[in-house]
Parts: sequence; C-alpha cells; structure tokens
Amino acid sequence: MWTVRARRLVTADGPEDAPLGVREDVVLRIGDGKVDAIVPADEHLSGVDVATDLVTPGLVDAHTHAAWVGQRGEEYAMRLAGADYEAIGAAGGGIVASMRAVRAATTGDVAETLTARLRRMARLGVTTVEVKSGYGLDEASERKQLEAVARVAEDPRLPGVVPTYLGLHAVPPGQDRDAHAKACGEWLDGIAADGLARFVDAYVDRNAFSVEQARPVLEKARALGLGVRVHVGQFADVGGAEMAASLGAASVDHVEHISPEGVAALAEAGTAAVMLPVAAFTLAQAAPPVSALREGGVKLVVASDANPGTAPTESLPLAMAFAARQYGMTLEEVILGATRWAAASLGLPDRGRVFEGGPADLVGWDLSREAELLQPWGTPMTRWVMREGRLIVG
Ligand code: NIG
Ligand code: FE
Repeated sequence: MWTVRARRLVTADGPEDAPLGVREDVVLRIGDGKVDAIVPADEHLSGVDVATDLVTPGLVDAHTHAAWVGQRGEEYAMRLAGADYEAIGAAGGGIVASMRAVRAATTGDVAETLTARLRRMARLGVTTVEVKSGYGLDEASERKQLEAVARVAEDPRLPGVVPTYLGLHAVPPGQDRDAHAKACGEWLDGIAADGLARFVDAYVDRNAFSVEQARPVLEKARALGLGVRVHVGQFADVGGAEMAASLGAASVDHVEHISPEGVAALAEAGTAAVMLPVAAFTLAQAAPPVSALREGGVKLVVASDANPGTAPTESLPLAMAFAARQYGMTLEEVILGATRWAAASLGLPDRGRVFEGGPADLVGWDLSREAELLQPWGTPMTRWVMREGRLIVG
C-alpha cells in the first residue's frame, strides 16, 4: 500500500457540469496497481508516503509517430526558407526520408530509440502513448516498427503503448498508389493475426490517399475487430470525416479542413476529433474549426503528433499549451482531451481519469493548480509519475 496526499486532485471524472472533478485535500491509497480509495485527508489518520500540491491522471497521448528513427532537420530548415511540406514529400523527402531510415534500422534500433523517447515522455507526465507505424511502407518494415512497439510494450517502467498500423501513410518511390493501398490491406491479415495492432490508420488527404483507396483497408480493419483512427483534412477536405464516421472510427485527426456535414457526421457517429496543434504550428496553418466541432458535440482530444516532419516534439504538455493558446480550447477541454477523452478514443475507458478501483496511473506535479498545466513550460514539470501503481519517474 502506497499513500499520496494531494492538496488538489483533478480526477477528470466529474459530473457533466464540473467534469474536471477537482477534489481538495485528499489521500489516495494505492495497492495492487489500483487506486484503492480516495479519502478526505482528515479521515486518514496515519502518515503518508508523499505529499503533492497537484495530482492528475497520467496524461494520454492518443496520436504519435514515436517509432521513428533518424531526424529531418535539413527539411525543416528548407521549410523555414519557404519550401512546402507537401512538395518536399512529393520530391521523395518527408515521410519517405523516414522510411529509408526505418528500413536501414534493425528492430532493436527502433525499440531502443522508442524506449528512450517513451522515457522522456514519461517525465512529461504521459503514462499511455499511441504509437503508429507508417515509416516502413513494405510488409517487413511495417512489421519491424510494430514488433519494436510490441517489445517496448512489455516494459512496465515505461508508459503503456497502443499500437496502430499506418501502412497507408505514403507511397514508396516508384510504386503505384492503388497497388500500395491494396498491398497494405493484404499485410493487415498477418498484422492482425499476430496481435501487432489495435488500430488501423490511413492518411486521407490530397497528395496522400483518397477515400476510395483507404476505405477497403479500414473496412477490413473493422471486420477483423480492430479500431480505426484516420488522418483527415490536414491540407484539404477530401471526404475523410464522412468516411471515418461511416466506419464508426474512434477518431479523425488533424481536421484543419472539414465541412459542416463532416462535423455532423462525426457527432452522429461518436467519433472524436484529435487536435494536433504542434503540427499546425510547424506548418504555419490555421486552426481547425474548434467552435463548430464543440458546438456540434464532437469530443475533442489533444495529442502531440510526435514525428520528425510536422511535429518535432515529444511533448503532450506543449500540445496542450498550444491547444489553449492557438486553438482557443478551454482549460477543461484541454485537460479532458489529454486524459479522459484521449483514453476513451483509444478504447481504454478506465485510463485518463482517477476513480476508486481504477488503474493507478497518476502524476504529481511541481505545480499548484491545473491552470498551470496550460503554460508552455518547455520542460518537465512533474515531480513523480506512476503507472499501474509503480513509480516510473521520481
Ligand atoms: O500527422 N500527415 C501525415 N503524417 C504526419 C507527418 C508525418 C511526417 O512528416 O513524417 C502528421 O502530420
Ligand atoms: Fe500524424
């Protein structure tokens, strides 16, 4: 049994009119990886192991490409000098540059890089991370990335990982787009059979894949019992939101470009919208229609998009700060979007919130109030981080 006294506990498990569920001066009793009890501090008569001003659920990063190796700094310099991200991709850079790096690496190399990255993410307060493939782009290399994720998933001292297969991320040089999309569907059988992915993603956009190319692969994912999350409308609205909703997708991600019909379809299907403000920042793009999504009743999630091209960061707290400042999301929306709704979109309804009997994924912050979580610290502000009752930081 481990006990924590929190001057302020944000449960992210409150009622509709106060969803942050803030409780003041409580003691959390933790045993067997779970939050056994949450009691008012004055009812807890023995000592405590640690006292912290602010405790929240472990943060949940629901969209990352964290299994990348190598860097693309020269491309970023070109973009700062005016080059266009899509044009760099079309000329064989971008995603394909990271593909070359992944193909040249071993599974062990990818696992090692990912482990170091997840450790840094943990220090930022993150206890669950979705990790996509998508830099392999042939069967063996997509599997290499997913096998590296599976290896890392066994380590209880790291954040938990949720693997997503993103074969439809780009087309390898010299190959036909339709043929690649078809092949991605074929690789899915083995990937699903080996339990290497919980979700399937596709990059549905102009200069990426069309609805017609993505739909069969995503339909197959559903038929195999996997969830669907889709890169949609980062550069143009090509109907991805409507397609994702019709498949009962868990999320659509980016959605800088989405029509009112797309928003309505998401709301109707209960598909969450994942906001990726660091990518919009590095691409100098305008924000998605956050108020239309909010008013339409779409659940908002905030994620880092950690990748070497459009979001060279590992920091979900940075994305949270941008979501508040650049996207106009409220404190509640940002916190729930990086905890409860992020976890729900990953099919983990017990994560991202604190309740008696729930998993002890918790963060003790070097901050006094939750509003301070939205400031762009640019540095870890955690005092300790716990995953399933085990201290992974601190
Ligand atoms: O979410 N847009 C597609 N995928 C990534 C970028 C990947 C990359 O540039 O390596 C994104 O922005
Ligand atoms: Fe992405």
